[in-house]
Amino acid sequence: MTEGVFRRLGIADLTRLVVLEQARPRPWTRSQLEKILTDETVCVLGVEVEGQLAGHAVAARLPFETELQAMLVAPAMRRRGLATSLLTVVIDQALRWESERLLLEVRASNSGAIALYRKAGFDEDGRRRGYYPGLETSASASAPAAEPRAGGGVAKLTGAGPGVASSAGAGREDALLMSRRLL
Ligand SMILES: CC(C)(COP(=O)(O)OP(=O)(O)OC[C@H]1O[C@@H](n2cnc3c(N)ncnc32)[C@H](O)[C@@H]1OP(=O)(O)O)[C@@H](O)C(=O)NCCC(=O)NCCS
Repeated sequence: MTEGVFRRLGIADLTRLVVLEQARPRPWTRSQLEKILTDETVCVLGVEVEGQLAGHAVAARLPFETELQAMLVAPAMRRRGLATSLLTVVIDQALRWESERLLLEVRASNSGAIALYRKAGFDEDGRRRGYYPGLETSASASAPAAEPRAGGGVAKLTGAGPGVASSAGAGREDALLMSRRLL
C-alpha cells in the first residue's frame, strides 16, 4: 500500500489535474476542470505521492446525497490502494456534508472500478441503459452523458438489475448505478 498525501485541490492545481486527466480515454477539458475546481458544491480531492499528483476523486454535494462523479489514479500508481484511500476521504467529506448515501455510476464494462467499489461496500442499484457513448466513438461524441460527467444530478434508475444485456443502442454502453449508505 503506497502512502499518499490527501488534500482538497484548488484552482492552483488546475494544470496538474489537466495532465493527470490525459490518462483517461475521455479526459475532462481544462475549462470543465476549472469549473469543478471553483464550484462550491463540488469537492475535488487529490492524492500526492512524492510530490506528484497521483490521483483524484470528484465529489458533488446533492440535497441529501453525495455523488462521486469521477475517480482516476495515474496508470503507474494503480493497484497500490490509492483509490481505496481516496474513497475513504470522499466518504469523510460526504459525512461532513451529512449525506445519507454516496452514489456513483460506472461503465458496465469497467470491471476494475466495479471490483473496487464492491470491495468498498457499494451495492448495485440498477442500470441506465445505453447511457455512455461507446469508447471507440467517444472522442467525437458530444452526448450529455460524457464521461466523466460534470454538473451533478442523480442518475435515474431503470429498475433493471445486474445481468441485463449491456448495451441499449448501437455502440453505447450501460451505466451501472451503485451506492453506499452512510448514515
Ligand atoms: C479504477 C481505478 C480508480 C482503481 O484505482 P487503484 O488505485 O488501482 O485501486 P486500488 O489499488 O485501491 O484497488 C482496490 C481494489 O479494487 C479492485 N481493483 C482495482 N483495479 C482493478 C482492476 N483493474 N482489475 C480488477 N480489480 C481491480 C481490486 O480488488 C483491488 O484490490 P487488490 O489490488 O488488492 O486486488 C483506476 O484503475 C483508474 O483510475 N482507472 C481509470 C479511470 C476509472 O476507471 N475510474 C473509475 C470510473 S470514473
